[in-house]
Amino acid sequence: MKNATILSIALLPLALATAVPRSEKVDYTGYQGLRITLPENATGIEEQIEDIAAHILNPGQATHIDAVVAADKIDAIKALAPEVEVLVQDVGAAIAEEGDIVSAYAVPSESWFTAYHSYADHIQFLRDLQAGYPSNSEIITTGTSVQGRTLTGIHIWGSGGKGSKPAVLFHGTVHAREWITTMSTEYNAWQLLTKYNTDSAIKALVDKFDFYIIPIVNPDGFVYSQTTDRMWRKNRQTVGSSSCVGRDNNRNWSYKWEVTGGASTNPCSETYKGLAAGDAPENRGMMAHVNSLRDARGIRLYIDFHSYGQYILWPYGYDCNLVVPEDRALNALASAGQSAIRGVSGTSYTVGNSCRHLYATTGSGPDYVYGVGGAAYSYTIELRDKGNYGFILPASQIQPTVRETWAGVVAMLQRT
Ligand code: ARG
Ligand code: ZN
Repeated sequence: MKNATILSIALLPLALATAVPRSEKVDYTGYQGLRITLPENATGIEEQIEDIAAHILNPGQATHIDAVVAADKIDAIKALAPEVEVLVQDVGAAIAEEGDIVSAYAVPSESWFTAYHSYADHIQFLRDLQAGYPSNSEIITTGTSVQGRTLTGIHIWGSGGKGSKPAVLFHGTVHAREWITTMSTEYNAWQLLTKYNTDSAIKALVDKFDFYIIPIVNPDGFVYSQTTDRMWRKNRQTVGSSSCVGRDNNRNWSYKWEVTGGASTNPCSETYKGLAAGDAPENRGMMAHVNSLRDARGIRLYIDFHSYGQYILWPYGYDCNLVVPEDRALNALASAGQSAIRGVSGTSYTVGNSCRHLYATTGSGPDYVYGVGGAAYSYTIELRDKGNYGFILPASQIQPTVRETWAGVVAMLQRT
């Protein structure tokens, strides 16, 4: 993390000049990653754990909570819920071992996928990748964040020409701390372009769809997770009534936003839905983009990449009793992805309806793109791992993860 430290020091004069208080980097030394089994029919315990923990890692889960907890608060947690498994002995040490944010930047190559990178370098990666394939791609922007960063992606097309085919849309890093998803979406873009001329199976996919890939849809949160708090999830939007910061961009889409039970109305919660549907600028930008793709050639496939848990999930998230008419088709594609991933590395994924297999979510991206965007197929993919490292996946696992995921994505695309 030494480069991130240098970065925050470099920003200090700026912070002073603009009189914006700049918090120091959160030090997680001695904090533990806990998997807390929720006692049966003990209502209200979740909220109490949320108050004690520094971060809830899997907000919404009904059976157990993964949380980062300060050493002196672990006893208080155990008093509420005695069944506690230690997933990460020392979160600070895990962050130190995750790997530095490498600032030595090289033009797109396989070595990019051996380290984590700064926001500026991710944007440069996209620009350099695009510059290598000017006749098959362009840089796209799909809105602006709270702090004025542009949601930047790449549009890739094949022999039919730009914008001639139905859309495939990939989003990464809607949750700031899920760094592996930035790498995975970038790997997909990189594979599509670099394999186009040499791999007929990939060429067939690029000729069949227009790909829109946006690796970081929550840029402010991502930057904050690198400069200040590695465990940050939400965007960086304030709300007058609270000193807590951030809306959950995966609870703010204007579809079933008003339904209760799948998001929080508390600004301090990890799943704060905002004051109104679509009141996060990142969501307004994404919705406008989705609507325009729908109105142009339609959307065939949407994947929202998250970590962690190893799931491939499909709509709807907002109601666990709803089975969509296309459930079998959604299942078939997910299962194809699951087997392809297992075939590469043995990594096992769970497939299923998002509400029943994980938890309820309202105002989520995959529900919007399915329900409003009219996508034929819409998924959340939760990448590695199952909690041993959680979001702090070591850099040595980037390549294995993005490669197996790419195989899964290809298998899904071939059935799309
Ligand atoms: N973990 C992600 C989130 O909390 C994805 C949830 C997937 N959808 C669902 N209904 N469980 O936003
Ligand atoms: Zn997520």
